[in-house]
Amino acid sequence: MGKFGKEFLMGAATAAHQVEGNNRNSDCWVLENSPYGGYAEPSLDACDHYNRYEEDIRLMKEAGLNAYRFGIEWARIEPQEGIYDEQVVRHYGDVISCCRKYGIEPVVTLHHFSSPVWLIRKGGWEAESTVDDFAAYARFVAEKIGKDLHYICTINEANMGLQIMSVAREFYNQMVADGKIQMGISMEALMTGSPEKMKENEKLFGTASPHVFQSPRTENGDKLIMRAHRAACAEIKRVNPSIKTGLTLSLHDIQAADGGEKNAAKEWNDEFLHYLPYIREDDFLGVQNYSRSRYGKDGNLPVPEGAQVTQMGYEYYPQGIGNVLRKVAEEYEGELLVTENGIATEDDKERVSFIGAATDGVAACIKEGIPVKGYFYWSLLDNFEWQKGYGMKFGLVEVDRSNGQVRRPKPSLRYLGGI
Ligand code: BGC
Repeated sequence: MGKFGKEFLMGAATAAHQVEGNNRNSDCWVLENSPYGGYAEPSLDACDHYNRYEEDIRLMKEAGLNAYRFGIEWARIEPQEGIYDEQVVRHYGDVISCCRKYGIEPVVTLHHFSSPVWLIRKGGWEAESTVDDFAAYARFVAEKIGKDLHYICTINEANMGLQIMSVAREFYNQMVADGKIQMGISMEALMTGSPEKMKENEKLFGTASPHVFQSPRTENGDKLIMRAHRAACAEIKRVNPSIKTGLTLSLHDIQAADGGEKNAAKEWNDEFLHYLPYIREDDFLGVQNYSRSRYGKDGNLPVPEGAQVTQMGYEYYPQGIGNVLRKVAEEYEGELLVTENGIATEDDKERVSFIGAATDGVAACIKEGIPVKGYFYWSLLDNFEWQKGYGMKFGLVEVDRSNGQVRRPKPSLRYLGGI
């Protein structure tokens, strides 16, 4: 018998903005295409997954995977406030049917970092009105395509803004911030304000400091996101109570070095524990881990000297996911899905070793009785890593963007499917 039972969801993940291409009504698109947006390069037509989804889903099927986590794009579905694009929602219905055709369980994410420009112009992720706006979008999606879904993740890495706020504080204290956040963000670009940048923001979003999802978050904004999540879950359940709903969190494997116990405990509280009151009723929690993060008595410690690091600058640490699942399960009793875990590397052999060790950790957790129901490797495709652009190679499949978007599955795809 393999590491996992037949019911286990074994798949790969993507996010709409990172793979679809031409997400023109989103905040990310306008920032990528503006001189002070802080992006290494624009996403353009990304991996053209919007048109090539069937080929990508078929690749997963052929490799032996049985689940696909993907995002649907709010900025496409509701390009202007209150105006929904029926054709786009039909498209996502087609993607879901295509998954079913190939025996792949679709796990849909409603919000994965990118937001409609109109939402940001209204105050974005610090504005009270966003709770109702997000709930209305969730209801619309559930009504249109919910009948074929078993899993919806409302908000991806709902805790990202607080993590960015905490690293932003370190940045101000002149510490090195790169590689400390589990996503491709440029702290330099985020934190350095200039009159030009403010003028540009004013023009794009009607405010000098827009609150996009990846902005440093206030405590009030943090609570607002939880309320948006709860309101969306309620709407989805009203339409179809059988859909399992939950959110996902970016969770480091937080470890205390000598004297760092207090700092590590505070970090775990900020990253995870204080969300418990808002997520306890959820059907599942999406756990996303890429590395560990060590704390000493003076705060976050650098990657140990000589340690293997990934392209993203984090320590290579595949045992992190098992450790995090155990810690989460001490407090959270619902189902757990590993909604993201992966490595950015040019060396696919390194990816195979990472996946082998990480899934061993997940299988050990299940043996210990922890209800882990799925594992989604990040990412299916070599895709657009936000501000870091296309240089980070997370994919199980190489995408030759300069040569007709040709897909070349890497050995790691088959390896994951074989598990
Ligand atoms: C995000 C993905 C991102 C990945 C790798 C996660 O934080 O959800 O969008 O590409 O990490 O950095």
